[in-house]
Amino acid sequence: MQVKGHVALITGGASGLGEATARALAALGAKVGILDMNAERAEAVATELGGVALIADVTSEESVLAALAKLKEEAGSAARIVVNCAGIAPSARLVGKNGPHSLELYRKVIEINLIGTFNVMRLAAAEMTALDKLEDGDRGVIINTASVAGYEGQIGQIAYAASKGGVISMTVTAARDLSNMGIRVNTIAPGLFITPMFLTVAEDFRKSLESSIPFPSRLGTAQEYAKLAMAIVDNVYINGETIRLDGALRMSPR
Ligand SMILES: NC(=O)c1ccc[n+]([C@@H]2O[C@H](COP(=O)([O-])OP(=O)(O)OC[C@H]3O[C@@H](n4cnc5c(N)ncnc54)[C@H](O)[C@@H]3O)[C@@H](O)[C@H]2O)c1
Repeated sequence: MQVKGHVALITGGASGLGEATARALAALGAKVGILDMNAERAEAVATELGGVALIADVTSEESVLAALAKLKEEAGSAARIVVNCAGIAPSARLVGKNGPHSLELYRKVIEINLIGTFNVMRLAAAEMTALDKLEDGDRGVIINTASVAGYEGQIGQIAYAASKGGVISMTVTAARDLSNMGIRVNTIAPGLFITPMFLTVAEDFRKSLESSIPFPSRLGTAQEYAKLAMAIVDNVYINGETIRLDGALRMSPR
């Protein structure tokens, strides 16, 4: 599917992997909707890319519906490309120094990473069904973001691993559910990427993380994530798949 002239929605588009993907899509000629809770950054990125800032919470039906309506009105069409990057990654053990894992924190991670992804998928896909079919009989594509933690979560990642495992599990089912509408669903499972999260990490810790990555033995860049997202958009035969993007990294317990 060509990107040029289409509308794209990127959740978590104000930072990190989502921002890089929004930049790549805009460079290829898409009108981008930057959906994020961070209003200041979303406005700044959208203004720079000639896109639309959508201040919304992925976990809320009302908030996402309002964002989709604003994007459709300002961009002139519903999104054909949806990239789900909004997420959080707090860490806590099942039982830690202060007792059992907080149930509230577990629910929050599932709510944002898993239910938020589901919420945006269902509402955006429903809008996509009204769009005309393109030359391959497709109407659009959804790309979700899991994590290698969805396969092998490290110590302290129990909530995060569960949320990302859920995103991986939804992928083929969502692709099957939407197949008769010509909407593809794929997921990228990144390893370790340089995003604002990593800028605060101590140099020696970063080096030890990098040495655990077989090749290339460094953190991935947000642009490399965006390149894979563009390849998924472009190739209509990629569907129902989760693709690891990790330099052959397999996470150790800690
Ligand atoms: N950076 C990595 O190494 C890495 C590795 C594996 C997976 N991931 C996943 O990739 C995605 C993007 O990560 P990143 O590193 O770019 O993070 P980031 O913190 O730079 O960006 C995440 C964005 O999501 C937004 N957000 C959070 N909760 C939201 C909500 N409820 N509604 C709307 N927006 C919300 C934040 O405001 C932020 O702008 C996340 O799902 C993360 O779990 C990242």
